[in-house]
Amino acid sequence: MTTPVDSDEFFDPLNPAHIPDPDDFMAASRRGCPIGRVSEILYTANTDDLVRAVFDDTEHFSSRGNFTVGAEDVRTPVTMITQSDEPEHGVLRARLLKNLAPARLRNLTPEVEGIVRDAISELPSFGRVDMYTDYAHFIPAAVLYALIGIPKPAWREVQGWADAIVSVVPEPVDGLPEFASLMGFLAQLVEMRRSHPDDRHEDVLDNLCFAEPGEAELPTLDVVCHVFQLVVAATDTTRGLIANCLYRLLENRSAWEAVVADRSLLPNAIEESLRMDSPAQFMVRSVLEDVSLDECPIPAGKKLYLNIQSANHDEKRWGEDSRTYRIDRPDSAAHLAFGRGIHTCIGAPLARIEARLAIGALMDAHPAMRLTPDATWEKCDGILTRRVKSVPVWIDGKEI
Ligand code: HEM
Repeated sequence: MTTPVDSDEFFDPLNPAHIPDPDDFMAASRRGCPIGRVSEILYTANTDDLVRAVFDDTEHFSSRGNFTVGAEDVRTPVTMITQSDEPEHGVLRARLLKNLAPARLRNLTPEVEGIVRDAISELPSFGRVDMYTDYAHFIPAAVLYALIGIPKPAWREVQGWADAIVSVVPEPVDGLPEFASLMGFLAQLVEMRRSHPDDRHEDVLDNLCFAEPGEAELPTLDVVCHVFQLVVAATDTTRGLIANCLYRLLENRSAWEAVVADRSLLPNAIEESLRMDSPAQFMVRSVLEDVSLDECPIPAGKKLYLNIQSANHDEKRWGEDSRTYRIDRPDSAAHLAFGRGIHTCIGAPLARIEARLAIGALMDAHPAMRLTPDATWEKCDGILTRRVKSVPVWIDGKEI
């Protein structure tokens, strides 16, 4: 039977009291309410097997209205990749994948290294620093703007608009002045590119502005919306990964020291961070036909909240220490933090490169860095992102 979430014990994404520190509510749901009903329209799936199964099942579940936890889907002028179903989805994904193919990522890596080097050189050589605002915050935005092809002098202004927008997602953003500024700026860039068809670049703007044989010519609004989707998908999530992983390593001092001494441990430390603190806490699917999950009926037309964060802490999948950060956990990369199935994150390889370079370079520059004694793990505001609010450290371990 479906369990209505009529107990305060079970996780309810619509209950503001559950948002700042949701883990105990999620654990209670895994024990007693793996499929919950939290409103007339919204159901939750809270375990690894259920979330995995729904990601895989595009016959009964649609990505239309993804992220929307209310009755009404957020309106967008163009269907973007995360909201699309087949066959439209596959066409768009193949086009965007060209910018994230291994060869392109190999060419982009020196640029990421340069961005990380610049960010390190901006840090003071000793003293108190917040590694979120003063370090992790800038890197993913700069990398994404390079990937898209946004001219460097505009990065800071674009980041101001994008940050205002991302802080509101998944609520509608179309009324924000920053949204109008960003969309207008991107439309100008598209026009500029198209007015110089012989001046080609290896970036997202070129890819979407100029169709290759067999590809569709995209109207300006479509290009702008697909680029906008990347801004929403790529920045806050990757900042979350870098900040969360740094915090977990520093909080477990022996783990930090082990990775400083042996950098081959870093990739698994990053996967374990994604599992422990999944930067995108959930995705939503629309139910296309009456279904039954774990013997719980869910009627067509309802929405299902795929609780990635809870699935990644599922004791049945990860053992009784599932809520402990362990850099030696076997198989950490089997987490669901990047989703699964046809919509699996196409930016995952890039996010992993960014985290590896950003954390590795910091370890090279400041191996003795320590969390300040007053540091606490506090989740950022908002329902979508799981990111520690700040990572306050003493650089070189010295107090001033
Ligand atoms: C740690 C960082 C990131 C996390 C945790 C993350 C998480 C996710 C998740 C969970 C999905 C699945 C969406 C669904 O099934 O509905 C997704 C899809 C997507 N991500 Fe990421 N993402 C990250 C970084 C990035 C980056 C760096 C980019 C771009 C450069 C990106 C672009 C996308 C796009 C375009 C999709 C849609 C794919 C599709 O619908 O086929 N993401 N991401």
